[in-house]
Amino acid sequence: MIRGDEIRQAVRDHYAGRSAAGCCGGADCCGETAEEGLEGFIGPQLGCGSPLAHAALQSGETVVDLGSGAGGDVLRAAQGVGPTGRAIGVDMTPEMVWKARENARRLGVPYAEFRLGEIEHLPLPDASADVVISNCVINLLPDKSAAFREAFRALRPGGRLVVSDMVTRGPLPHSIRSDPAAWAACIAGAVDLDDYLAMIRAAGFERVETVTSTPGAPGQVFSATVRAIKPDR
Ligand SMILES: C[S@@+](CC[C@H](N)C(=O)[O-])C[C@H]1O[C@@H](n2cnc3c(N)ncnc32)[C@H](O)[C@@H]1O
Repeated sequence: MIRGDEIRQAVRDHYAGRSAAGCCGGADCCGETAEEGLEGFIGPQLGCGSPLAHAALQSGETVVDLGSGAGGDVLRAAQGVGPTGRAIGVDMTPEMVWKARENARRLGVPYAEFRLGEIEHLPLPDASADVVISNCVINLLPDKSAAFREAFRALRPGGRLVVSDMVTRGPLPHSIRSDPAAWAACIAGAVDLDDYLAMIRAAGFERVETVTSTPGAPGQVFSATVRAIKPDR
């Protein structure tokens, strides 16, 4: 059985290497998203969906992106909340945080902020965010529930969680689940969509729903975008 620390090291090494890429297009990444509206952004874009399309951002809100990579979604979120809002990315790979800060400078978005940290231990106060998004990251975590609990803690009552991620229908073979490279490539850590939704509910979220997904056959990974609300009480 592969250990959690081995997975984390494989993931960090993989994304440190990918931080230099201008764009994602190979088989060893989580997908490719367009860079529409981000003039000057130098990538990489490694997401597997569009959580912001379902986040209904309002001017002045605070948005947090779990595993922000080179910052594409944070910079888009910054456009959505405007200069009276805050867009904060958290990523555990220093090279990604440096790249994201470089992108924010290039695009001239000083109210986009990037913090180095693990999303299982978010560097954020309780009830400080209106919206938490994530794009193709939580599958990479051995303990996904920890990230959902932290998102719940960081959200204000009534706050929204919108997550795009790789999931499965049914379990993946042990040979895949024990391969560090397959973890880093957003395959091995994918769990059954129903189990994924159950983890979000167990963290305390309500109105947990799948808003969009790509077709998924048993034994294959596919992308789903899930939305949930922190109860307003
Ligand atoms: C597939 S990339 C997605 C990046 C970004 N969300 C995007 O759409 O381009 C995964 C990112 O998650 C980060 N990551 C993985 N595990 C993490 C963890 N436990 N805490 C913080 N960041 C993590 C990696 O460093 C990498 O930048």
